[in-house]
Amino acid sequence: MEGLFTLPRKASTSDPLRIAVLISGGGSGLASILAYELLEPRFFHTVLVLADSHEAGGLGHARKAGIDSIGIPLPRIANKKEQRLKHEDLVHEQLKKYNTELIALAGYMRIFTPVFVEKWKGRLINIHPSLLPKYPGAHAHRDALADGAVISGCTVHFVDEGVDTGRIITQSEVPVLTGDNIGDLQNRVKAAEHALYPRTIDAIAKNPGLFIDRQDG
Ligand code: GRF
Repeated sequence: MEGLFTLPRKASTSDPLRIAVLISGGGSGLASILAYELLEPRFFHTVLVLADSHEAGGLGHARKAGIDSIGIPLPRIANKKEQRLKHEDLVHEQLKKYNTELIALAGYMRIFTPVFVEKWKGRLINIHPSLLPKYPGAHAHRDALADGAVISGCTVHFVDEGVDTGRIITQSEVPVLTGDNIGDLQNRVKAAEHALYPRTIDAIAKNPGLFIDRQDG
């Protein structure tokens, strides 16, 4: 299913882009976005934090920052496909309610169906802890180490119907050091993510066509 690729509007610091951050875990990436917003006027503002459970640790970051946060667990529906679609409907409903203009996935551990992606294509971005197209999927650090990589990093990309296959927006490299374990590499990559993601979101909000023009032109 190929939906239209629709970029967000060009925002300003006086009328910042309304973003929703979606998380599943501790939300260190979310915390970096919220901290970045506090430093000076930005071209985006986080209006909503959504998690796929009530227990996601990161929901606390949103509460502390006074930002609306909602846990939406999977509904009790036996049929898995129906359950997934219904869950996405509930998420979509909240995103619309908050007039969301851009969705930033930050450690959201669910894969969206093409039905959801089609609704948000161009306004749905993710950060992945590797230099895509290398090491897509849920085990990027394990795969990088197993492959003997000497460089890894992170990638901000648009989300399409595949897994970590969407158009690349920005990347940041980190070295893989001798003796690194998964935790070491994860920590180093996360530090790079925390610098890259807030700046990339701000750059998209300021000039949404920038990354598209560069790749197509
Ligand atoms: C990050 O490494 C992100 O790239 C990946 O999941 C991790 C989330 O970490 N998709 P946190 O919950 O933001 O600490």
